[in-house]
Amino acid sequence: MRTIKDLKPDELTGKRVIVRVDFNVPLAEGAVTDDTRIRAALPTIEYLCSAGSRVILMSHLGRPAGIGFEETYSIVPAARVLSRLMGSEVKTVQSVTGPKVRAAVDSLDNGEILILENLRFDAREKKNDDSFSHELADLADIYVNDAFGAAHRAHSSTAGITKYLPSYAGVLLANEVETLTEMLEDPVRPFIAILGGSKVSDKFGVIEKLLEKVDTLIIGGGMCFTFLAAQGHATGMSIVEEEWIDRAREMLTKATTKGVDLLLPLDVICADTFSEAAQICIRGIDEIPEDQMGLDIGPATCAYYREAIAKGKTIFWNGPMGVFEMKPFEMGTKAVAEALARNQEAQTIIGGGDSVAAVKQFELADRMTFISTGGGASMQLVEGTPLPGVEVLN
Ligand code: 3PG
Repeated sequence: MRTIKDLKPDELTGKRVIVRVDFNVPLAEGAVTDDTRIRAALPTIEYLCSAGSRVILMSHLGRPAGIGFEETYSIVPAARVLSRLMGSEVKTVQSVTGPKVRAAVDSLDNGEILILENLRFDAREKKNDDSFSHELADLADIYVNDAFGAAHRAHSSTAGITKYLPSYAGVLLANEVETLTEMLEDPVRPFIAILGGSKVSDKFGVIEKLLEKVDTLIIGGGMCFTFLAAQGHATGMSIVEEEWIDRAREMLTKATTKGVDLLLPLDVICADTFSEAAQICIRGIDEIPEDQMGLDIGPATCAYYREAIAKGKTIFWNGPMGVFEMKPFEMGTKAVAEALARNQEAQTIIGGGDSVAAVKQFELADRMTFISTGGGASMQLVEGTPLPGVEVLN
C-alpha cells in the first residue's frame, strides 16, 4: 500500500490534496461529544499542511437522507473541533461539489484546509456513483484515504475516486491496517481474543478466523448464551439465537480440534427485566431460572477471565461482557477492561465499537496499546473479508 510518507514534501507543496477522513463523530446539541476520530486524523493533516499542500477534507457524518443539506448532519461542528486542535482556521463550504466548492478550493493557499459538507448529502456517494467520484476527483491532484472507519464501504469517496487520481493511504489508515494485520499474522503468544456483544450471528466470521489464530478465545456478552445453549444449558429468558445453535456447536468442536481454549461463563448476573431497576441475582450457568435473563457475566467468571487475560501477550477485544451502560450489569466489562489495563506486558488491541466506549467509560483508554477507530472495518479485516477502501490502494 502506498502511503503519503512515500511522497516527499516537495512532491506535495502547492498540490491540492483531497483527503477522505472519518469524522463520523457523535454529536449532542450541535457539539462533538467524542473527538477521538478527529484527533486520530491529525498526523496526516499536519503532514500535508507542513508540506505546503492545499488540503481538502471530506467525510460523511451519520446517515442523512441524501437529498441535500440537513443542519443536524452538518460537518461544521467537526470543522470547529479540528480548527481548535490545529490552532488554525478550517474553511467550510455549504456544499459537497459544484461551483461554490470549486471557488473555495481555488482560493486555498498552501498549507490551508477546507472541509466539504457531509458527503452523504449527495445520494450518489453511497452508490459509488462514477459521476460523483469524478466530481470529487476533479477538485484535486492527489487523493489520500485516511478513513479507516469507513474502509469497509465501497463509496465514491473511498473507492470510485481512486480511478481518477494518484491514491495513497494516510497515516491513520496505514497504521490501523498494519497493527491489525500484524496481530493476526505474527502475534506474540499467548494470543488471546475476547469477544462479546449481543448478537453471535454477526460474529461467526470473526470467530471462525480467530480460531485459526489464537491460543485462547474468551466469550461473554449476550452471544455467550447461544454457545451455552449449544452445550445443553438451560438459558431462561436470555438472548439465544436458536437458528445459530448448530453453528455455535461447530465452533466449539473447531476450538477442540485446533487446540484453542474456548472460555465460556461459569456464572451470570440475572434479572427478570431488561432494566436498570430490575432485581438482580447471581446464578451458575446450570441454575438460570426460567423467568430470568443473563445480562452480565458473574463474579466467578470475572475471576476466571482475569486469570486468563493476565497470561496473554497479545490480546484483542471486541464487544462488552454485559449491558455495561446499566450500572448493575457493568461489572464484567469493567473487570475485562481492568484486566487488560493491568497486563502491561501485553499488546492490547481494542477492536472498535462498544468496547472502545467501555474503556473510555472506565477511564482506561490510555492504558491500552491500540484502540481502533473503526468498529465495522476492524471486524471485517479480522474476519478476512477485503476492505474495499484498502483494496483500491493496493
Ligand atoms: C462507522 O462509524 O462505523 C463508520 O463511520 C461507518 O459509518 P456507516 O456505518 O454509517 O457507514
